Amino acid sequence: MRRYSRIAIFLHWAIAALLAFQIALGWALEDLGARGFALFQLHKSVGISILLLTLARVAVRYWKPRPAPVEGGWQGALAKAVHGGLYLFMLGAPLTGWALVSTAKVRVPTLIFGVVPLPHLPLPMSAHEWAAGGHSLLAWIGIALFALHVAGALRHHFLLDDGLLWRMMPSRSPVLLVALPALIAAGFGLGRAILPAPAPKAAAAIAKPVPVPVPVVEQEAPAPVPEKVDNAAPAAGSAEGENAAAAGEPVAQPSSWIVQPGGSIGFSVGNGGETISGSFAKWTAKIVMDPDHPDSADIRVEIDLASASVGDSYKDGMLAGDEFFGVAAHPRAIFTAKGAERTGANNYRAAGTLTLKGASKPQSIRFTLSGTGKARKVSGSATIARAAFDVGNGESSAGLDPKVAVSFAFSARAKPAGMD
Ligand code: HEM
Ligand code: HEM
Repeated sequence: MRRYSRIAIFLHWAIAALLAFQIALGWALEDLGARGFALFQLHKSVGISILLLTLARVAVRYWKPRPAPVEGGWQGALAKAVHGGLYLFMLGAPLTGWALVSTAKVRVPTLIFGVVPLPHLPLPMSAHEWAAGGHSLLAWIGIALFALHVAGALRHHFLLDDGLLWRMMPSRSPVLLVALPALIAAGFGLGRAILPAPAPKAAAAIAKPVPVPVPVVEQEAPAPVPEKVDNAAPAAGSAEGENAAAAGEPVAQPSSWIVQPGGSIGFSVGNGGETISGSFAKWTAKIVMDPDHPDSADIRVEIDLASASVGDSYKDGMLAGDEFFGVAAHPRAIFTAKGAERTGANNYRAAGTLTLKGASKPQSIRFTLSGTGKARKVSGSATIARAAFDVGNGESSAGLDPKVAVSFAFSARAKPAGMD
């Protein structure tokens, strides 16, 4: 019996095993989110390899003559249709994957096997839903075609006893007859097995009571009622109010401040002798503070971590990944502080809580106010021990300094009374 060319046979089994690996890994990625940054890169790398191997296979199909079909009639037509469908699956799965990555909100760059950058396809962002839906549906279409394909092959080989499987085997070896199809099962098993162990740290951080429970800080600053001078017991209750009262000072109405556009929050960290600097493009701050009575301050800053940029799209993609911010699981960093202390004429320090990547830790910031009255300028800094938040936990962070310097500057205007 004539068989397929060796190269066609090699590509048939290699692609089949890789596809099984991809599907198993793809399903797992969904649950991993950004925790699986490296595995996402692997899935994309293997996927693009499948695309290239499939193109090679199509070329081989024209270049090396194939054995004549074993069957005509409707069965022959069905076999042909299933083969056609399998080719569409082999091309469609990687192309929809590439399209979905190219149109995602968080534009994570792809470096194929850590070496070759994969450009984003020039597609409108509106194509994302289609690409993602198609990518996930194609896996099931592929599985259905695979089932028909295998049923057909087994029917020929064993029921019709025409030895069809030998056409896709490099030699008539019973070992290969078992080993080559088994490669597909091995690919699937490997795709499921290479997942990282569940992150105990993340689970523990969620389980343990967080010092500043998020639902509570989610509330607006305890909107002090205008005119009401006694704010010794604002909704936040607590020590700050008591301190103010104990100090026996007349407590002025803390003002709400509106942060004006044009401010910045930047960060910089040493990396093996050089400094990596970047900034966050998107953040919001809610500030209630009377500069003369900082102890009644109520500060909440939310940073959209996906907006972090160091001016290099590949590194930005890494920043979004699990090794750094893990934005898919934890899109925002939140700093809250109730009360600040004066450390100089215009200098303040606020000890609060930073919630980043699922961990909440005490964090203080220092800042200086300039200007007077209802328009002030704020500039300040903080030093963040990144390890406490599991930021930079992979090999590429080996040379990174443990402390990250954060600096901010913005203008703020006092909110007119009664406006909320
Ligand atoms: C994901 C898995 C698989 C894919 C994508 C796939 C794809 C294909 C395609 C596209 C062809 C047509 C080749 C051509 O004429 O251009 C083909 C042929 C063939 N495949 Fe598969 N295959 C898969 C799994 C399997 C398995 C598990 C078996 C065996 C149990 C198998 C046995 C065969 C055989 C015997 C042929 C030759 C059919 C003939 O000579 O008409 N394939 N396969
Ligand atoms: C070559 C064959 C490929 C197969 C069979 C495959 C299969 C899958 C499957 C089954 C999923 C889970 C989908 C779901 O149920 O939501 C998935 C997810 C994913 N794939 Fe692929 N994939 C392939 C190639 C690619 C390529 C080339 C890329 C990018 C360049 C890619 C990027 C992704 C991404 C980013 C996800 C996660 C999607 C999400 O979470 O919504 N895939 N893949």
